[in-house]
Amino acid sequence: MANLTIMDHPLIQHKISILRDKRTGNMQFRKLAEEISTLIAYEATRDLALENVEVETPITTATCKKLAGKKLAIVPILRAGLGMVDGLLTLVPAAKVGHIGLYRDHETLEPHEYYCKLPEDIDKRVVFVVDPMLATGGSASAAIQFVKDRGATHIKLLNIIAAPEGIARIQKDHPDVDMFVGVLDEKLNEHGYIIPGLGDAGDRIFGTK
Ligand code: PRP
Ligand code: URA
Repeated sequence: MANLTIMDHPLIQHKISILRDKRTGNMQFRKLAEEISTLIAYEATRDLALENVEVETPITTATCKKLAGKKLAIVPILRAGLGMVDGLLTLVPAAKVGHIGLYRDHETLEPHEYYCKLPEDIDKRVVFVVDPMLATGGSASAAIQFVKDRGATHIKLLNIIAAPEGIARIQKDHPDVDMFVGVLDEKLNEHGYIIPGLGDAGDRIFGTK
């Protein structure tokens, strides 16, 4: 079963509380989403493999550690996932970035693809699929399937707020994917919105409503 890590860091909880507040404007929302993403990414990169390297310091030779093996790719689910990218790039500035465009049909809640551009060598990278909201899990499940179809085998899903329904969907569809979630909310409402949630993440990031 997919490994689920729910963040318990006080800074993440504090920042998510401000993110939820309907009085928080677009500018502050964007900044907070970026900061929270950096903090979640810190946890999600904890198991990256290291290798020993010899480093000449001004004093002597030291055996140190550097990242080994696979390089990283960040894949935001458009639109709202874009709000997490810079937060991850703060920690891993050399990562490549792919984009998957999906929108959720308001009636059926099914995801529809409108764009997909991924790094050519995504099969050789650890892939971080990012989206602030995991509601039914349909969008994240489809995005993960896109990167799997391109050969990726080491995939992590990062969300700021998740509903139990979304967690269950990913655990069923992609039991090999590790999930890192800022906070686990109560449930979905009849329109597929997360309760208590924060409303429409894309609209709040881009100021479209
Ligand atoms: C939102 C959100 C996720 C999706 C989550 O995107 O950013 O991608 O809904 O819902 P799900 O788990 O039920 O699939 P939306 O479709 O509203 O598109 P947007 O980011 O362009 O606003
Ligand atoms: N997408 C959002 O932006 N918010 C929700 O609560 C559910 C899906």
